[in-house]
Amino acid sequence: MTMTQRYTFPGVAVITGAGGTGIGAAVAKSFASTGCERIAITDLNLNSLDQTRQAILASHPQARLVIKAGDISDESFVESFIDEVVASFGRVDYAVNCAGILGDALRSTETPTAIFDQINNVNYRGSWLCSRAELGQMVRQDPLASHDPTRAPQRGAIVNVASQLGIVGRPSAPAYCGSKAAVIAMTRSDAIDYSEDGIRVNCVCPGVIETPMTTYSEEVRERLRPAVEIAPMKRMGKPEEVADAVLFLCSPLASFVQGHALVVDGGYVIN
Ligand SMILES: NC(=O)c1ccc[n+]([C@@H]2O[C@H](COP(=O)([O-])OP(=O)(O)OC[C@H]3O[C@@H](n4cnc5c(N)ncnc54)[C@H](O)[C@@H]3O)[C@@H](O)[C@H]2O)c1
Repeated sequence: MTMTQRYTFPGVAVITGAGGTGIGAAVAKSFASTGCERIAITDLNLNSLDQTRQAILASHPQARLVIKAGDISDESFVESFIDEVVASFGRVDYAVNCAGILGDALRSTETPTAIFDQINNVNYRGSWLCSRAELGQMVRQDPLASHDPTRAPQRGAIVNVASQLGIVGRPSAPAYCGSKAAVIAMTRSDAIDYSEDGIRVNCVCPGVIETPMTTYSEEVRERLRPAVEIAPMKRMGKPEEVADAVLFLCSPLASFVQGHALVVDGGYVIN
């Protein structure tokens, strides 16, 4: 049996930051292409979510989607989104917390407190609000009956999207680096707390990935060029390459992987 054949996702997938053409959208499309038929997506903007919806339904018309736009740093939005997913699909099995922002290149002495708060409110607090709501549902539900019977039962799997910059530093990004280190630490702590519930909590740490976040202006491309050059593979990664790692962590193949921070960075952090 090949690895691809073992990637089946009979449960419900939830992805934040899934609009447009970034990592979250690639994760949502990858779930659909591996046979996941119940997918909930959220992002700030309904138009960007519609782009993802159309892409999924064009190739997988049988997929059922819940789509809700909102701000993941808003507690009441997050709670209402997960409530809506559960009302529509009955459960949450694979939750990928991907929404995030980069911010301008600023050293600490140049960083207004409002910018520090904004980055942390989305990247750290927002990821925590989402994972708390997802865990709240997962602990209440039975393990997925149709999950691979040769593996331990799984009540749910969460993958938070951190960054290589949660592990190593980069100039002029203290708020971003701190917010992503917090996501890695939160992942480990939740992994300890929910292991006995049959829930796995892991994160991925992407390197420089070719998405709107890293390509939206020439200034950003220039700012990130040294990071691309430092990585031994000397190229940007594709959103689909991160999505593959995310789906592995959600799948039964990762049944003994817990609290891990999986770098997907072309070797950046080893250099
Ligand atoms: N692209 C990279 O090089 C890279 C590297 C490491 C980590 N990451 C992380 O990967 C994740 C996805 O980034 P991406 O590269 O796909 O960028 P992206 O900008 O394409 O996607 C991020 C998405 O999050 C959404 N978002 C932002 N703030 C939000 C909020 N408050 N509420 C809801 N949605 C919100 C955006 O609208 C956007 O669609 C982010 O957490 C980012 O920090 C990206």
